[in-house]
Amino acid sequence: MNPIITLGIETSCDETALALIETRRVDDIFECRILGSLIHSQADLHSAYGGVYPNLAKREHEHHLPILLDTLFEQARTTHSDATITKNIVDTIAVTEGPGLEPALWTGITFAEKLGKEWNIPVIPVNHMEGHIIGSLLRNDTPDGQWQRLHELPTPALALLVSGGHTELVTINPKGQVFSYNILGATKDDAVGEAFDKAARLLGLPYPGGPHLSRMAQEARDLDIPAPVTLPRPMIASKDLDFSFSGLKTAVLYAIRNAEKSGVLTDDFKKGLAREFEDAAIETLLSKLRKATDQISAKSIILGGGVSANTLLRERISSLAAEYDIPIYLPSKHISGDNALMIAVAGAFSGIPSKKLRAQGTKKIGS
Ligand code: KG4
Ligand code: ZN
Repeated sequence: MNPIITLGIETSCDETALALIETRRVDDIFECRILGSLIHSQADLHSAYGGVYPNLAKREHEHHLPILLDTLFEQARTTHSDATITKNIVDTIAVTEGPGLEPALWTGITFAEKLGKEWNIPVIPVNHMEGHIIGSLLRNDTPDGQWQRLHELPTPALALLVSGGHTELVTINPKGQVFSYNILGATKDDAVGEAFDKAARLLGLPYPGGPHLSRMAQEARDLDIPAPVTLPRPMIASKDLDFSFSGLKTAVLYAIRNAEKSGVLTDDFKKGLAREFEDAAIETLLSKLRKATDQISAKSIILGGGVSANTLLRERISSLAAEYDIPIYLPSKHISGDNALMIAVAGAFSGIPSKKLRAQGTKKIGS
């Protein structure tokens, strides 16, 4: 099969991202080569609102997409000293169709369809969560521009997907040359990233608060600051594989209110509370992951989604995989958050072109 050049587009939330990759199958094995990848984050703009403001996200995506497109090709030509890397060589466009914020998704889809018409090439819709799974299978030891294979995935594999909008446990099995997905469990209310962000906000940290809260928790560990209260480990005893994180956030709210009333809301109290929150959230994730691993006799584990940048979670999940003696695949830190590289690779790996794309504001893998 001749190599195929794919342009990836991601606009599901507050990152505008584009990527350019080349892919081929050698003896039926998928290989890819990264030509370029750019991410423009709007986080600073949204932080004034304490969360993503959909219409602002839409306007920013519309403004930045054409600029990033030109920059992407310029950078790819320079990085690879190859003047032939122009818009003319693109064979397909892979774009996130969901899940995500509908107005934001539509900007990417409209942009992709316009380019598809102009360049007379097909457009492939990609599920954002599948993107996170495939992104975690990219090797992080291959320099851009070199052919690489995805990590081999012993199946059934189990993915723990943890982002600002989703918390899911997904079984992955082979289906011909691609994968089939089955959701085993998901959050019944807030996603774990959302809980991190809301708890961080209560602690007075800027949006997105996940990384800030995590740093505060680490400070508490380094300084031996204990947890001032015990927070719940929601649904840890339930037999199913679902999650619930809104009660944890509410418990943080009450802990802060009570401390305020009794005049003990010090910096140390906040640090200790951040530590306890991180421990509670991660213990909850790990307990369900362990149950799911046993239930499907998982042969490998994948961690994906923005919260996969969390150091403690990476450590704990790696220990769990070591205990079961199965491989664990973590995304490189630079693509743990939203990016278009994972969308381009997922589209080229398993996508099917579609003539009529629609933003899937609530669609999840398997549904
Ligand atoms: O996948 P992602 O970039 O966007 C969505 O698809 O939602 O995930 C973003 C989420 C945010 O809630 C952010 O606070 C969280 O990932 N996050 C973290 C860390 N880094 C990002 N949460 C905890 N610890 C981190 N180090
Ligand atoms: Zn994401």
